[in-house]
Amino acid sequence: MSDKLWQGRFSEKTASVVEAFTSSIQVDRRLYAYDIQGSIAHCKTLAKASIISEAEASEIIRGLEQIRLEIEEGRFHFDDRQEDIHMHIESRLVEICETVGSKLHTARSRNDQIALDVRMYLRVETCSIIRQLYRLQNVFVALAKKHVDTIIPGYTHLQRAQPLLLSHHLMAYFEMFARDMGRLEDCLRRINVMPLGCAALAGTTYPIDRSYTAELLGFDAISANSIDAVSDRDFILEFLSVAGICMIHFSRLSEELILWSTSEFNFIELPDAFATGSSIMPQKKNPDVPELVRGRTGAVIGNLMALLTMMKSLPLAYNRDMQEDKAPLFDTVDTLAACIEIYADMLPEISFKESNMQKAASSGFLDATDMADYLVMRGIPFREAHHLVGEAVSFALSRDKELHDLTLEQLRSFSDQIQQDIFSYLQIRQMIERRTSYGGTAGKNVRQAIAKAEKSLADKQSHLPDFR
Ligand code: ARG
Repeated sequence: MSDKLWQGRFSEKTASVVEAFTSSIQVDRRLYAYDIQGSIAHCKTLAKASIISEAEASEIIRGLEQIRLEIEEGRFHFDDRQEDIHMHIESRLVEICETVGSKLHTARSRNDQIALDVRMYLRVETCSIIRQLYRLQNVFVALAKKHVDTIIPGYTHLQRAQPLLLSHHLMAYFEMFARDMGRLEDCLRRINVMPLGCAALAGTTYPIDRSYTAELLGFDAISANSIDAVSDRDFILEFLSVAGICMIHFSRLSEELILWSTSEFNFIELPDAFATGSSIMPQKKNPDVPELVRGRTGAVIGNLMALLTMMKSLPLAYNRDMQEDKAPLFDTVDTLAACIEIYADMLPEISFKESNMQKAASSGFLDATDMADYLVMRGIPFREAHHLVGEAVSFALSRDKELHDLTLEQLRSFSDQIQQDIFSYLQIRQMIERRTSYGGTAGKNVRQAIAKAEKSLADKQSHLPDFR
């Protein structure tokens, strides 16, 4: 490959240790297709402004297409001495069509070029992640429908609290991932802004039509300030934040599945195909998939921290520090995509042990709040009712009983307002069905929430964003 394209000013050759240190090609070669697509659009923009002729533009485009083929077929030679993907492609272009190829870099710089490439890459990946999340949302809805009447104990502080429908619990995740999708869609609006033509930092003296480049590349907007265009990495930070939040949702779900699959909880059986064994303990079936998802959340959050810290003191405009944005970004995209995929595959295969869950919901005083509500219904102020039930709980505990195991007489020793109907009032199903406040766990509500979710997914199907 030829010498460096910026060699003119230098009388000494770059030290090879510096070449190795500064090179980013092993990371940013992944952007080659966007770099070529962006260069083709740039070339057309130059021709439209008569900065190069149509014939020259065609020759450059042919050269770029040839390079694309060479890379795709594994015939392209990557070399640390050419720094990054832009230099690799441009040097090769100059090799293929020397004089004409040398005209491509007019009216642009690598500073706006890298911003363009990353934006093109990230809008594709963001759309693909939105689509993956869409698939996951369908899985949650199907699972909630399947378990619409299944009872589980609900927890606060990981202590049994009140009974719930499993479907309601699953739909909580639907809400969480719906917010992630919304955040990604919002983020996409700020990713999809075209920076090319801002050149190094100040704009360019050539009469280029940046809107034309944006139109060719499917951008909704062009960046308004050339300095900001080359130094802005907010769109990456936003994506990494959204990804971090989304991974936290996966991590919390993972934690629950890990707990639920223990012998202590025994609420679920993970599918054999998604679990692993122990090399020493023959009985073990380990929840490695949720554990790894939970574990990888650390790296995704770390990637956000790395980039926030890298950006925090950078003066305007471009600084080479910013080259370091790509490895954390790519890692986050890969990790998030892999986690969504494995969860969408695994969730439908989990078997829920309904009778164990229902049994767990029948002990541990999950009916105490309802007993207080019962007393409130009979005119006792809530605080007083709370206190009376607390005493009843303490009495029952001392006899190793549940509230609903006490006799009517024993219960009436705490309040003479208690009647025989307390026993049906404290049945699990009734406790659930009474929670009809909007967003509560009553079956009627959950069915409505599922129907609403199904409709929103159906409406969304033909409106999912897409870029190629
Ligand atoms: N490889 C560089 C990066 O990823 C491209 C921009 C380089 N610009 C420069 N002036 N050295 O940030």
